[in-house]
Order: sequence, then C-alpha cells, then structure tokens
Amino acid sequence: MLSLPMTRGIRGAITVDENTEAAITGAAWRLTQAMMRANQVEVEDIACIIFSVTPDLDAAFPAAGVRLAGLTTTPLFSTREIPVPGSLPRCIRALMLVTSNLRQEEIQHVYLGEAVKLRPDLNSGQDGNAERPGVGVPDYRKTILDIAPYQPGKPISELRREKGLTDIIKLASNENPLGPSPKAMAALQQYLTSLHIYPDGNAFELRRALAQRLGVDAGEIIFGSGSDEVIKMLGLTFLEPGDEVLICEPTFSEYAYAAHLMGAKLRSLPLKEHAFDLEAMLAAVNPKTKMVFICNPNNPTGAYVNKAAVDSFLARIPEHVLVVFDEAYYEYVRAADYPDTIGYVREGRNVVVLRTFSKIYGLAGLRIGYGVAPGQLAQLIQRVREPFNVNAAAQVAALAALEDEEHVIKSRELNEAGKNWLYQELAKLGLDYVPSQTNFVFIHLKQDSQVVYQRLLDRGVIARSGGVFGCPNWLRVTVGTQEENQRFIQALSEVMGR
Ligand SMILES: Cc1ncc(COP(=O)(O)O)c(C=O)c1O
Repeated sequence: MLSLPMTRGIRGAITVDENTEAAITGAAWRLTQAMMRANQVEVEDIACIIFSVTPDLDAAFPAAGVRLAGLTTTPLFSTREIPVPGSLPRCIRALMLVTSNLRQEEIQHVYLGEAVKLRPDLNSGQDGNAERPGVGVPDYRKTILDIAPYQPGKPISELRREKGLTDIIKLASNENPLGPSPKAMAALQQYLTSLHIYPDGNAFELRRALAQRLGVDAGEIIFGSGSDEVIKMLGLTFLEPGDEVLICEPTFSEYAYAAHLMGAKLRSLPLKEHAFDLEAMLAAVNPKTKMVFICNPNNPTGAYVNKAAVDSFLARIPEHVLVVFDEAYYEYVRAADYPDTIGYVREGRNVVVLRTFSKIYGLAGLRIGYGVAPGQLAQLIQRVREPFNVNAAAQVAALAALEDEEHVIKSRELNEAGKNWLYQELAKLGLDYVPSQTNFVFIHLKQDSQVVYQRLLDRGVIARSGGVFGCPNWLRVTVGTQEENQRFIQALSEVMGR
C-alpha cells in the first residue's frame, strides 16, 4: 500500500578507479541514475542532491557531471568528506532528498562498486532489495554495475497514458516516418502461416542477397537482433577485463555497454566539430586498446568523418586494434567524401562495419541489423551468436525491404526535403544546428533542453533531450513527414517564445 508523499532521503555511494574528470562525473551520473531507478524517482521528485568525495578525488565535482547529464534545475552541492581511518579510497557519496510515496523502510539505498563494502548490512546493496529482511542476491559480476541501462525515446503509448493526449508524434528514435517498406509488409503477411517453424539460424536467403548487394562473401556477414546485438557480440568475442575500448562522446550508448559488460575499460574522448576525432583517438591508442568504435555519421550529432581522415587513420592504427564503424544511418548519407568502409573489409583489414534495417528500411520493431567483417573475424564472431538470434519474421521482412528500392529512394528524398526545411525554419528561429548526414538534427537551444523537451511533450511532440547524451542545451529531433516537421517547428517556436 502506498503512503502519502513525504520527503525521504536516499543514500548512495560509488567508487572510481582513477581521479579523472571523466571517471568522477561518469560515476556520479551512474550513481544518481541507479538511486532514481531503484526508488522510481523522477527528476521533478528530487528536492536536492548533496555529494561528498574523499580527499583523493579532486579532478572534478560530481555535481558538475550530474548537471551535464541533464539535471539542470535540481539544486546540487558537492563537498569534501572528512578522512576517517579505514574509509574507502576514491569514493563518492550522495544524499538525495526526494518526495516519495515509499515508506521509510521501503527506500532503497544504493552502493555501487567497492562501496558495497561500506554497507555489508545491505547485503550486496545495489540491487535495491537489500534492506528488506530475508532478501539477498547471489554474488554477481561487479562489472555490470558500470552499465547504465539504455534510456530509449519515450514511447507514444507512455505519453498517452501520462498526459491523456491522443494526437502524438514521436520524433525521438530516428525511425522512418514513412513506416516499413510495403514489400516487407506484404512478405510478412505471406509468412504468417509459417510462424510455428524455427528461423533459419544462418539467414541463408537474406545472407545471399545482402552479400551480393555489398560485394562481399556470404561468410563475411554477421546478423544480429538489431545492430545492438552485433555490438554485444563484438564484446563477447574480443573483450576481456583489462582491455580498453576507445570512443568519442557524446555518441551511441551501446559501445559503453559492450565494454562494461565484459569488464573492459572504456576510454572516452571528446568529439571534434561534432564528429569522431580520429587523430586524438590514434594518439590515445596503447597496447591495451582492443577496440575502437567510430560512429559515422555520429548519433546524436549527425556529423561525419570523411574518407581522407579514415584512410589516414587506418594506415596508422596498430594491428592489435579492431576498428568498428557503426553506419546505422549509412543509407541517408549524401556526402560525396563519405568513406567506403566495405572496401576495407574486402581488403581484409581489422575492421567491422555495422548497419541496420531499423532506420531507412523501417523495420526497427522487428530487430535486425548486421556486421560485415573479413572472413576470419566474422567466423570468430559467429561463435558467440545464439542459434536463432534473428527471428524469422525479421529475416523475411528484411529480404523484401532490401529489394524495395522504391521505398528506400522515397524515404531518402523525404528525409532530404524535410531536413532542408527544418534547417530553414531553425534558422528563422535563430537556432543553430549541426548539419546532418542522417535522419535527425541536433539543435543548439542554448537553454535547458529538458524544460523544452517537457513542454514539447505537453504539446504531444516527443523529441530527445540532449541531457541523456551529456548535452543539456541540445535537442535531437528525427526528421518526420512534412506535417510532423511543421508540427514540431510550431511547437518549438511556441515553447521558446519566438
Ligand atoms: C549509431 C547507432 N547504432 C546502432 C543503433 C541500433 O540499431 P538497431 O536497431 O539495429 O539495433 C542505433 C539506433 O538508434 C544507432 O543510432
């Protein structure tokens, strides 16, 4: 039974490996997220958060990290912990004051990393069940505590439930506003009577068609339940504790997931002009660097690195590093100097190219994506694949969508026209944006995007607030149909009072 809303205090602590800004701000953000999740707390429920750090952490204030990650209006405070004998090194503590329906004894305090040791009475602490008598958890892999659960764009059904709105548009997850390929839908209809049969684990038909399309051997393709799964498979195949994974940020979150899942160390560099900074990445490679992800064009910015930069990068990258190009938005790219990464696969380099049927092909709900890698790499990755990882409906629809050139062309043209129109309108509103090679635009609001995001929700428009990417003054919007784009611009100008 719920009690009346009361002010409650949630305690939390986390340790970090090193005294760096990235480690401190990242850990503070993870801790905050975990405390909120464990107690079903929304941002507006938080009265304030007080952080303290041990004296050996002076590279950054944890509050600054949380601010960057989107808690832009929550009062935050950072202070230094008084050293006491036997206290844990490199530790960040938090006290979050919230309004909550939970009773005092139901509040879940959260202790992550080595900080678990601070409260042995809470069993293992971080699962949130710890203070309930009699509930313990078996020991588990501590590396999973570094994983920040994926924060998806808000589903239409959720906004409908929350606000009772009926006329809602979702421009938050870079889906195709034209919907799936009609040919894919027709093929699926035909397939319905075969749903009792297991899928072809090797996806033979689709593999053959795609290999022909890409000019690679059939054995050089790895299918996944979304390219998300291929990213995870790369982790399972190559990463071990002690390995390092190099990325630039802000970017797509699943590279961090794969690294943390395997207990590898994630090293993150800033973007350069909104795209991956290949020169800085090269300089950061060391003998432990196992994998480098290059999101190109990058999500959430839409910017890209060109062929000359990639050629030069690959010419100098040491052989022990696997280079992963994530090209989820490949089919939308118009830049003439965009690299032909499949060519690198044909040359047998240590590269994997990731693409997906979720974007221009409009099949995000079915979950199918793929990786392309030289045969010797692809065979290794295949070993970690589950037998029927890509469902039969996805295979059938993807094959039909691949052959539906008309739908792809229509989708691309709609996107180009919509994007150019959005650019014009944003300029009229006096807003800057990053020129995009994708089906979304990253807009510099120069003010708290969480507020704008919420007010857009009130008007039935779901966009993506930049806070989740560590860019609290930015908003990402998917290019929709012309009608959707107009509705977005209308709502944005109202919200921003322009
Ligand atoms: C850069 C990037 N990579 C991969 C994905 C995941 O795609 P999939 O639906 O194939 O898992 C996305 C989805 O938004 C993305 O933006």
